[in-house]
Amino acid sequence: AGSLGAAAAQSGRYFGTAVAAGRLGDSTYSTILDREFNMITPENEMKWDTTEPSRGNFNFGPGDQIVNHAAAHGQKMRGHTLVWHNQLPGWVSGLSASDLQSAMDNHITQEMTHFKGKIYAWDVVNEAFADGGSGQHRSSPFQDKLGNGFIEHAFRTARSVDPSAKLCYNDYNIENWTDAKTQGVYNMVKDFKARSVPIDCVGFQSHFGAGGPPSSFQTTLTNFAALGVDVQLTELDIAQASSSAYASTVNACVHVTRCAGITVWGIRDSDSWRTGENPLLFDNNGNPKAAYTSVLNAL
Ligand code: XIL
Repeated sequence: AGSLGAAAAQSGRYFGTAVAAGRLGDSTYSTILDREFNMITPENEMKWDTTEPSRGNFNFGPGDQIVNHAAAHGQKMRGHTLVWHNQLPGWVSGLSASDLQSAMDNHITQEMTHFKGKIYAWDVVNEAFADGGSGQHRSSPFQDKLGNGFIEHAFRTARSVDPSAKLCYNDYNIENWTDAKTQGVYNMVKDFKARSVPIDCVGFQSHFGAGGPPSSFQTTLTNFAALGVDVQLTELDIAQASSSAYASTVNACVHVTRCAGITVWGIRDSDSWRTGENPLLFDNNGNPKAAYTSVLNAL
């Protein structure tokens, strides 16, 4: 196949990238985007600080720009993200518990309604688990004021607003099977499935160091998939982008039937949030790097 998207499609998967609305006017960028990728995640444009900068004031313009681009070029969209402790406007953290609950419900409802029918999968809750050995939720305005049930509540609300979108839980450092954080998320998904809390997918961000994925990554994906959810690699980037690290990552996905697709977190190294790490598949000039060929061959 002549592109990442076409190669992934041969096995029914997608290959996506994060997109910044502000870069769509750069023709080098948009040429690669439209040639290689058939799934798009807005890098920042659907986050709470952009979409509801003050209470009840919604701004979907930047997100719409990306959605319109995707529609015009036959690309699907991942929605990112509805409930997250980062890029959260100050007014949200200042609310009382009951106000926070209604603000969260309203935020999910308004944003999902606006984009209804245009989103393949939503990251309903992002990064709710703590780093380190606790296996518990991290402290956040949501956790601290609404308690453990805020995740379940968010998923139930999301399902009621758009029953056709897939609903994902998304996090980083949950790729190594034996880590407490991985086990915490796994137990949550297992519990949700046992109690019919609506969840369809788990996103593994896959922000890797130069060594690439942990050797247990495929096991982790297999074990989550066995709970009855799709698994997706949602924000892949690898310090220094070695060909073998990228190949191992892609292999972990393609060996798991329910691994639905892979998204890299940007197009050129110069587009990456990891400044100076050159973690992506295209160089600053938009030329494919060795890792690009390695990914294409592994798909
Ligand atoms: C990053 C963006 O790439 C940056 O532009 C922004 O300044 C900070 O957020 N986990 C996530 C993504 O879920 O939304 C983050 O994206 C990277 C870590």
